[in-house]
Amino acid sequence: MRRIISFLSAAITAFSLAASSQVDMQHEEELPISEGSVSDNILIAYFSWAENAVLPEGDGEADAVSSPSVRVPGNVQQPAGWIQEETGGDLFSIRVTEPYPSDWDACLERANEERGSNARPELQENIRDPERYDTVFLGYPNWWYGVPMPLLSFLDQNDFSGKNVYLFCSHGTGGLANSVDLITEAVPDAIISDNIFDCCEEDAPSSEDDVKSWVNELGFFIASANQNEQEEVSMRISVTDGENKVEYELNNSGAARTLYEMLPLTVGVEDFSTNEKTFYPPKELPCEDTPLAGTDAEGGTLAYYEPWGDVVMFYAGYNGNSSLYELGHAVSGTDSISSLSGTITIEAVE
Ligand SMILES: Cc1cc2nc3c(=O)[nH]c(=O)nc-3n(C[C@H](O)[C@H](O)[C@H](O)COP(=O)(O)O)c2cc1C
Repeated sequence: MRRIISFLSAAITAFSLAASSQVDMQHEEELPISEGSVSDNILIAYFSWAENAVLPEGDGEADAVSSPSVRVPGNVQQPAGWIQEETGGDLFSIRVTEPYPSDWDACLERANEERGSNARPELQENIRDPERYDTVFLGYPNWWYGVPMPLLSFLDQNDFSGKNVYLFCSHGTGGLANSVDLITEAVPDAIISDNIFDCCEEDAPSSEDDVKSWVNELGFFIASANQNEQEEVSMRISVTDGENKVEYELNNSGAARTLYEMLPLTVGVEDFSTNEKTFYPPKELPCEDTPLAGTDAEGGTLAYYEPWGDVVMFYAGYNGNSSLYELGHAVSGTDSISSLSGTITIEAVE
C-alpha cells in the first residue's frame, strides 16, 4: 500500500498530463490463430524490475510491507516463464547495463527522468537471430503510465515488422495506461494483438492458470500437447552409413523430441576423441528439460553437447559434464557405432 500511495503522490506532480488509462486499440482485428506453431519461432521477451536492480540483502526476498522494494521473481518475470512452459519458445530477459535502484522512490525517480528525456537505456545484450521469430510475446510492467524505457531500447534494436506480437503486462492501479500506444509507436509494422494479458501486481504471483489459459486461447498449446502425446509414443531412430547400423531409443526430453522432429536427416559423421562419433543437426536442440548425460562406463549413450551443438554417439565409456545432455541409448548395433563413417542417414523407426 505504501508503494501505491507513494507512487500516486509522485504521479500527480510529475504526470499532470494525466495520461488516459484507456487503451487506444489500433489493432481491432483478431489475429489469425496459428495452431500448430513451431516453438522455434516463438520469442518471449520481457522486462522486469527484479532482474534489473541491485538486489538488497537476501536476494530481494524482502518482506513487502516492511521494505517496499524490488522482489524476485518479478511480476512480469513469472508470467514470462509460464508462457515459455506453455509454448516452448525462447525466453529473453531484457536487462540494462546500469541496474535500477532497488529502493522504490529512487527507482521511480530514475524511471521518471528516463521517461521525461525519452531515453533509451543501454542493454546488456540483444537476442540472437531476431529474424527467426514470427511470434513475439512481449512483457513489461506499467512504469509511469507507460513502459520502462529499456523496453523501447529493445524494440528499437529489433525489427518486428510483420511479426505477431502478444503483450502481457503487470501493473499497480493504473492498468495498461499508455503502454500499448507507446509500443505501437515503436513497432508500427508489427501485428499487435488486442488480446492482451494484464494483471494487478498483487495477483501476478497466483496467475499461472490465467496466463496459461490466455496462451492456449491464442492458439499456442503445442508444447504441452506434444509432451502429453509424446509420453505415450516411443521414439526410436536408426543411424546408418549404408553398411553399419545402430538403433537408439530416445528419451522424452525436449532436445530428443526436437531431434526426432527433424528426421530424416542426411549428414556427415565425424570422429572425436577415442570414444565418440558426432554429427551436427541443422538446428540447436533446446535442453531446458533434458537430463544431463551422467557417466556411462560402456558406451551406447546418445548425447548432445550444447556448447558446440553436436550430437554425440559414444561407443566407449565417458565422463559426463554440465553441458552434455542425454538424448537416448542404443538398443541395437552398439558395436557398429565405432565403424560409422562418411555420410549417415538418421531416420525414425516406425
Ligand atoms: C518505476 C516504477 C513505475 C511504476 N509506475 C506505475 C504506473 O504508472 N502505474 C501502475 O499501475 N503501476 C506502476 N508501477 C508498478 C508496477 O507496474 C507493478 O508493480 C508491476 O507488477 C511490476 O512488475 P515487475 O515486478 O515485473 O517489475 C510502477 C513501478 C515502478 C518500479
